Formats: sequence, C-alpha cells, structure tokens
Amino acid sequence: MVLELINLSKTFVNTTDHVNVEALKNINLLVNDGEFVSVVGPSGCGKTTMLRIIAGFEKASFGKALLNDEEIKNPGTEIGLVFQEYALFPWRTVLENVEFGLELKNTPAKERREKAFKYIEMVGLNSFENKYPKELSGGMKQRVAIARTLINEPKVVLMDEPFGSVDAQTRNSLQEFLIDIWRKRGDTIIFVTHNVDEAVFLSQRIVCLSSRPGEVLLEVSVNLEFPRDRTSMDFVKIRREILEHLMSNKGN
Ligand SMILES: Nc1ncnc2c1ncn2[C@@H]1O[C@H](COP(=O)(O)OP(=O)(O)O)[C@@H](O)[C@H]1O
Ligand SMILES: [Mg+2]
Repeated sequence: MVLELINLSKTFVNTTDHVNVEALKNINLLVNDGEFVSVVGPSGCGKTTMLRIIAGFEKASFGKALLNDEEIKNPGTEIGLVFQEYALFPWRTVLENVEFGLELKNTPAKERREKAFKYIEMVGLNSFENKYPKELSGGMKQRVAIARTLINEPKVVLMDEPFGSVDAQTRNSLQEFLIDIWRKRGDTIIFVTHNVDEAVFLSQRIVCLSSRPGEVLLEVSVNLEFPRDRTSMDFVKIRREILEHLMSNKGN
C-alpha cells in the first residue's frame, strides 16, 4: 500500500470576506508500505489539513493524494485516524469503544468480542474492558483510541498529535508503546507532531514543513536502531539539524 501526495496545495477560500488562507503549497510525498513517517512543522502550517485531505475529508485545491495509484476522494475504511482528543464515546466501555468499528461493518458479536479482546490486550489494557473512559488516565484513553483504530485494520494510520494532551512522562511511554506495536505489526503510519524529539524517537523518515503555507523544507531519514536513545549523539545531532531548519524558517 503506497500513499502518494503529488503537488498538493490547499487554499481555504472565504466567500464572505474574501480573505483566503493558503495552508499547503506544492507538497510531494511518497510513503511506502509499512513505513513510519512523521510530519513536523510549526502550529498552523497545514499539518492537520494535510491529514484531512489524505483521509478524504477535505479536497485539495490543486494536486492530489493517491492510495495505491487511486485518487482519494472520500473517507474510506483503508485510512484509520487517531487524533489528539481521544474521541472515545463516554457512554461506552473500553470494550464497546474498541468494538465500534466492527459493529459498523456488521461483524457478528462473537467475532467482534474476540477481536476486541485481542486488541485490548495488545494495548495492555486487559482487565479494563468494562471501565468507562472517565475512569481511565489520559494515556490509557489514548491507547483505547489506538486499539479502536487498529481493529479496523486500516491500510494507513494517520495520527494527528495523538500524544499532545498528556504529561511528558506519559508521552514518552506512549511513544515507546507505539513503536512496540508498529514493530510487531508493520503498520503504515503518518504521524503529525510539532515535537521534534518525538518525531526523531518514532520515525524512519521525517518531513519538515515550513510555516504557513506549509511547504516541504527538508526530509530526513532516521537510520537509528529501535528502541532509540534520546541522549545518544546521533539522536541529538538529527534533532538539532531539524530544529535549525525549522528555526531558520521562522517568520517567513
Ligand atoms: N476549514 C478551514 N477554513 C479556513 N481556514 C482553515 C480551515 N482549516 C484550517 N484553516 C487554516 O489553515 C491553516 C492551517 O491549519 P492546520 O492544518 O490546522 O494547521 P496545523 O495542524 O499545522 O496547526 C491555519 O491558518 C488555519 O487557520
Ligand atoms: Mg493541527
């Protein structure tokens, strides 16, 4: 499953005051099957817009997004999403939240349940099946959200600052957890963050966007072994390189 962005641009047109916002400019990106790619860039540079176009929620103004050579025009089951807000149903238990996607597909109850248990175990939440979201910590909620997405077996998983609302320590452990699952499963992941440290810790490749309109400033391959050591010289060097590029672009 290959995802490709070709000359992708997006301008939001405001028909009342005619002040248009150019959010993305000429983005080209190829994500291969099983690849973990991060997109970093300052707030407002169009990261969410880019994911929304890939997910089929938003139309490009120019250029296109392709999944296996087919243009993405509408939301579909091939693309899974995990957002910063947990977006769990508060009235459903962990089990019922994780099962949700399979209900939509009319999967028989027994199969649904078995699969949900498997995914709950994968995210390390066994014995929390019958808890409600309000009884869980932020980190646990985000793990439920990940299980709820992965159970649908999407071809590409889009993550939009998924760990943005938890404390630093929980964030680090969620990153380790995500890498663990990704290494076991080989999902194709596009991970959006404005946290460079997070991007270097997680990804095989990092795409850096400029401030708005988001253009690709730099692409960096991260050839460090997993699990990564945030304090190693190589890690720090890559982090610095990216930060320097982002800094030098500020205010443009
Ligand atoms: N639906 C919309 N209508 C008008 N402007 C929008 C819309 N969505 C996003 N924008 C604008 O596009 C720019 C990029 O937004 P966004 O993709 O959310 O950035 P990021 O996720 O990188 O912070 C921002 O200036 C934002 O205000
Ligand atoms: Mg965003």
